[in-house]
Amino acid sequence: MYQRARYDYLKELENIKNSGLCKHERIIYDDQKPLINVSFPEGEKQREVLNFCSNNYLGLANYPDIIKAAKNALDTHGFGMASVRFICGTQDIHKELEKKITEFYQTEDTILYSSCFDANGGLFETILGPEDAIITDALNHASIIDGIRLSKAKRYIYDHSDMKYLEKIIKRARLGIDIWDGPGLSKEPKPARNILIATDGVFSMDGDIAKLREIVELAKKYDAMVMVDDSHATGFLGEKGRGSIEYNDVLGEIDIITSTLGKAMGGASGGFTTGKKEIVEILRQKSRPYLFSNSLAPSIVAAALEAFDILGKSDELRKKLMDNTEYFRKNISSMGFDIIPGVHPIVPIMLGKFDNDAQLSQDISKDLYEEGVYVVGFFFPVVPKGKARIRVQISAAHSKEHLDKALEAFKKVGKKYRVI
Ligand SMILES: Cc1ncc(COP(=O)(O)O)c(C=O)c1O
Repeated sequence: MYQRARYDYLKELENIKNSGLCKHERIIYDDQKPLINVSFPEGEKQREVLNFCSNNYLGLANYPDIIKAAKNALDTHGFGMASVRFICGTQDIHKELEKKITEFYQTEDTILYSSCFDANGGLFETILGPEDAIITDALNHASIIDGIRLSKAKRYIYDHSDMKYLEKIIKRARLGIDIWDGPGLSKEPKPARNILIATDGVFSMDGDIAKLREIVELAKKYDAMVMVDDSHATGFLGEKGRGSIEYNDVLGEIDIITSTLGKAMGGASGGFTTGKKEIVEILRQKSRPYLFSNSLAPSIVAAALEAFDILGKSDELRKKLMDNTEYFRKNISSMGFDIIPGVHPIVPIMLGKFDNDAQLSQDISKDLYEEGVYVVGFFFPVVPKGKARIRVQISAAHSKEHLDKALEAFKKVGKKYRVI
């Protein structure tokens, strides 16, 4: 039976390899930190490399207080819950964390998920029906795209961060007409009941921040709701780490925020949706990843509580991250590298002005690895054609010495390939 399917799978795998898109895992032999032992390809000798490609923005992935909190929770609350939340999977600490996140974001209520992928997967279908419309940024994360696919609401996509286009589309969604004029649109237009604009707070390939002030104003003007996925901003962007929402000064004006605990906030796993209390209550009643998937492990919940406490007590890590980011951005661009300007610790080093940008992104990242700097090169179709890049991610855990070593390696390799 399997023989026929096996042939198809092998053919598909061959196609992936031939198109240069095969993903290979690098094996790390340490905890997640700035200097790690890696073997790549698997089975090769281990080498110590500087880690510039994790989402460990605040360095909490191996932070002593976080580990202590997780260990304590193993003693006080056990290892696992062996239940979904509404049967027997809710502990006092799950409720405590939901309350803490609500206070942090100044929202009305919060619901935890096993991941932000689940939070997004369980959102749209639950709160929007065929009478409604979702308007989504073209570069939104895969989990938003998949979540929207599950919903029966009408779907509109706007060009990335193009506010004029967004306004045009909201007007059309309000009237219930299709995006494009022209023949073939014979269906009776039906005005949308409720409209939700969905956007990433920070876009992970470019490190650019959504124009939330303008989005909120448009939402007010056309009576729409706004949803922001702040996975790449929670904990470090904005004055107190309240993400792109705080950075854009729209605290209290976003209806739904989803985010992850799997990046800056300790980096283990877990996600949440926080926002209007009626929406969160409906999610508790109907959201499928919440109803049909196990509760977040107690040690992760306790560690996340500790992570929010750390943010509340001091700005030190956030400030260090921002200082490191500014230092790296300033120095890499003064060497002559072309970066997307901004303030985010995602620093994309663009290679699009060279004809062979895709190949360059692979050659440069390989050479950097040889020089002891672990970064990843992205090229089409992961990013648009002609926009290949090396994506660097800065962490508060990096020391000035780490940053200087990386900059030195970039200089050497950049010169070799005549990129600078
Ligand atoms: C914008 C965005 N949303 C959601 C996710 C998924 O988060 P999680 O790892 O918690 O499922 C990611 C992770 O890559 C992300 O970048």
